[in-house]
Amino acid sequence: MLRRLALTQPDSFAFTPENQAWAEAQITKYPEGRQASAIIPLLWRAQEQEGWLTRPAIEKVAEMLGMAYIRALEVATFYFMFQLHPTGSVAHVQVCGTTSCMICGAEDLIAVCKEKIAAKPHTLSADGKFTWEEVECLGACANAPMAQIGKDYYEDLTAESFALILDKLAEGHVPQPGPQNGRYAAEPLGGLTSLKAWEKPHDPLNASAALARDIGDTVKRIQGTEVPLVTPWLGNTRGEKTGA
Ligand code: FES
Repeated sequence: MLRRLALTQPDSFAFTPENQAWAEAQITKYPEGRQASAIIPLLWRAQEQEGWLTRPAIEKVAEMLGMAYIRALEVATFYFMFQLHPTGSVAHVQVCGTTSCMICGAEDLIAVCKEKIAAKPHTLSADGKFTWEEVECLGACANAPMAQIGKDYYEDLTAESFALILDKLAEGHVPQPGPQNGRYAAEPLGGLTSLKAWEKPHDPLNASAALARDIGDTVKRIQGTEVPLVTPWLGNTRGEKTGA
């Protein structure tokens, strides 16, 4: 698949002060002359901040790392996790279309995307809130079909539950990620048949879904203020809030 930058680009890009501090700290992880090794985390943070990777952002990261623009562009266009076109202001939806998910109903989920978001992938919905794409296996095959929305996985979906999730997101809510059919994780839908010790009381959400609940940044644009900037390799283990 040909991956090109969007034709329409913003004039400039700047990290928020907190993200700038985070990015500069990441660069110090690498020895002098090897700063280019930080390119993926820096591009990723730029995308987390803006929702997609703009040309000015790629150039800014290249400048910070002392790299030729073309080398940064090579990385950005190689990895499919980098979004090179504007994404929805609320969320970019990634529907898995690989074997398990396809057998279990991925095409129904894609039909929902076409109906509720846009007929074609990587196209903004009429209200600008969503974009979607079909992706390869996201490693949650035992909970097929599934979709990644923002940072988190919504699993064991049906067309109806998926449509409801998109409606809730459009209204400003963030439905709880994880299995949507009542399963705790990937156990049989009818309940455990072995290892029944795990039926004793526990958090109703599995570890991944609980993290999504506790951190609460499923579809949040990252400003750098969300968690303390900790750089133990520089002796900072105190975890003060960045930019405080
Ligand atoms: S096939 Fe969809 S997560 Fe693996």
